[in-house]
Amino acid sequence: MFTEKLLRRVRGASSVTILTGAGISAESGVPTFRGKDGLWKNKKFEELAHIDAFTENPDEFWDFYRWRRENVKKVKPNLGHFALVDMARHFDEFTVITQNVDNLHHIAGSEHLIELHGNLQRNRCSECNLIYQAQKDGADSIKCEKCGSFLRPDVVLFGESLNSDVLKSAQEASAMCEVFFSIGTSGLVEPAASLPYLAKANGAYLVELNEEDTPLTPHMDESIRGQAGKVLPRLAIIFDKLFSR
Ligand code: OAD
Ligand code: ZN
Repeated sequence: MFTEKLLRRVRGASSVTILTGAGISAESGVPTFRGKDGLWKNKKFEELAHIDAFTENPDEFWDFYRWRRENVKKVKPNLGHFALVDMARHFDEFTVITQNVDNLHHIAGSEHLIELHGNLQRNRCSECNLIYQAQKDGADSIKCEKCGSFLRPDVVLFGESLNSDVLKSAQEASAMCEVFFSIGTSGLVEPAASLPYLAKANGAYLVELNEEDTPLTPHMDESIRGQAGKVLPRLAIIFDKLFSR
């Protein structure tokens, strides 16, 4: 399942970057967006999670986000999230870039974490961008203490761009790594989908871990088919052996 070449590249690497998507949280019980059990099926996610929904239909928007928050509060990191924390100690630089807003990498203990699409657990002022941690339920419609504008979840909505500093850090971590793993992402949503190409253009060895082929698959140096929660713990054990030699 893991080639000698991959293990050689990993053994020689001081910098590893990981890109994760909804697939890594699927085994925790967070629905993916696309695929057989995806939220996407009802076609409404793109509308409900749109910046226009926040401004034009705030009640429905907040109902949806309260529901997402409730969902995410019930779930725990799985062995895949924990395996990434374990692996990190072998490398000088180990960055996890996630498209997920579920906070599970953070709860698991990943340290160098870049949340490309924000985090459901935080709110942010829609005008002055002040961050509000750990919102209480039902407090979502309160206004900013500093400027009085409405608060919103600190996540990237459809119709919006990513935070440019966050994107820049993700691009840097992709460009400088020696091995890049793309895990549980369909590779369909930009700009995240371009990060593997950036890594490859700068000499990284590209590895995909997914249950299925994706548009990224043909560009990978190596593809592993399986569930993140099962494959990553095995890989972490192999890394342990590799670095104890
Ligand atoms: P998707 O739902 O598009 O893709 C999930 C991927 O995970 C698919 O390729 C599945 O085959 C794979 N998968 C499912 N279960 C898995 C498992 N147990 N182990 C490994 N792989 C598994 O999710 P993302 O690629 O994360 O953006 O979607 C990207 C962005 O689209 C999201 O961040 C979201 C959405 O629009 C925003 O909300 C801004
Ligand atoms: Zn404000």
